[in-house]
Amino acid sequence: MKPLNRYRHRSSGVILLLLIVVWSLLIALGLTFALGAQQGAIAKGVDVVPERVQNAQDVYLDSCTRCHVPVPPELLPTRRWAEILENPESHFGVNLRQSNRSLGVPPLSNIEIRLMWDYVQRASRSYREDELLPTQVKDSRFFWALHPKVKDVCQRGAIDCPNRISVQTCATCHTAAPQFDYRQLTPEWDNSP
Ligand code: HEC
Ligand code: HEC
Repeated sequence: MKPLNRYRHRSSGVILLLLIVVWSLLIALGLTFALGAQQGAIAKGVDVVPERVQNAQDVYLDSCTRCHVPVPPELLPTRRWAEILENPESHFGVNLRQSNRSLGVPPLSNIEIRLMWDYVQRASRSYREDELLPTQVKDSRFFWALHPKVKDVCQRGAIDCPNRISVQTCATCHTAAPQFDYRQLTPEWDNSP
């Protein structure tokens, strides 16, 4: 009887040990997933948006990346975004209400515009009443606030910079701009002091 008892005792110890190992593995796995998801969210755009407007952000990223890189709403004042979304017919010389088959661009619907407004309004900030509204990103102080180094480095000619800053040239420095990732830079900029 005795050996059998001892055997039982030892086996329950082994089971307990196994349970602890499996348990810690599960916790480690959960942590990895949680951190991974968080990193993904941070890399997408400038600020993490609340879950409520996540869908609207997806619509924005779907509709506004067909002709140029997605512009983070943080870079222009809210009132300028209102102008842009209220005038899809005259969007920098193109009509977003017309389908543009050669580019594979369907016409924008009112529902899409309303959803995008929810997102853009939430992710952007306002200018003071007495400030002149910038038409383009390069004229916005929000753009320059996020680019403390660029003006100086480009003026000194330390790094070759595009002649004109626009949606056409963001990707010369931001290699992952088409994926809405503005953290990743060319090695030249990454290594610049
Ligand atoms: C059919 C093509 C097309 C689509 C779709 C499109 N745009 Fe544009 N967008 C343009 C063109 C062309 C310009 C002018 C680019 C330039 O200045 O070189 C522009 C410029 C802009 C600018 C000014 C960027 C700067 O350099 O200052 C913003 C902001 C902008 N678009 C936002 C949007 C948003 C938001 C959407 C989605 C609702 C969108 N665009 C969809 C063609 C498009
Ligand atoms: C000449 C290179 C260059 C060009 C062109 C450029 N950027 Fe940047 N951008 C940078 C650098 C470098 C930083 C990091 C801040 C700094 O050092 O000035 C940055 C930072 C940013 C950030 C902040 C990223 C974050 O979350 O911390 C955003 C957003 C951004 N850029 C968007 C844009 C957009 C949109 C365009 C095009 C309209 C653009 N940039 C054009 C070099 C550039």
